[in-house]
Amino acid sequence: MAKTVYVLNGPNLNLLGTREPDTYGRATLKDVEKLCREAARRHALKVKFLQSNHEGEIVDSIHAAGAEQAAGIVINAGAYTHTSIAILDALNAAELPVIEVHLSNIHRREPFRHHSYISQVAIGMIAGLGSQGYLFALQALARRLAAP
Ligand code: DQA
Repeated sequence: MAKTVYVLNGPNLNLLGTREPDTYGRATLKDVEKLCREAARRHALKVKFLQSNHEGEIVDSIHAAGAEQAAGIVINAGAYTHTSIAILDALNAAELPVIEVHLSNIHRREPFRHHSYISQVAIGMIAGLGSQGYLFALQALARRLAAP
């Protein structure tokens, strides 16, 4: 049976395509989802693709990923990256491989974006490569699953 990767997206990412396109690009969240599904298919993985503007809902999705012993989590927690100990705690509890993604290069931006709680638990982080970052994250997870 194909293993499932959770791809989780935090607040305001539903607005991709129209939200600050100079920073986040023109790809919509639907485009990102398509990219992820195609990448997953190439690696014989399944994707659960979710977006929420609510911290607790993201925590619930991480719990679900942990409970079903998913293959891993790709997460762009949006602004919660910089604030959410609850999401960090949930990721730690899930005990799954985590890859952090940001469309923009958070280290080239305002100082308050330089710190990420997610990085504490992530295997790695991809930032600044736009929607391609999700593709690279799925590739990295697939490779890790094939040769842990
Ligand atoms: C983001 C970067 C965050 O700082 C910001 O709050 C976002 C998007 C990114 O993908 O570049 O919402 O995670």
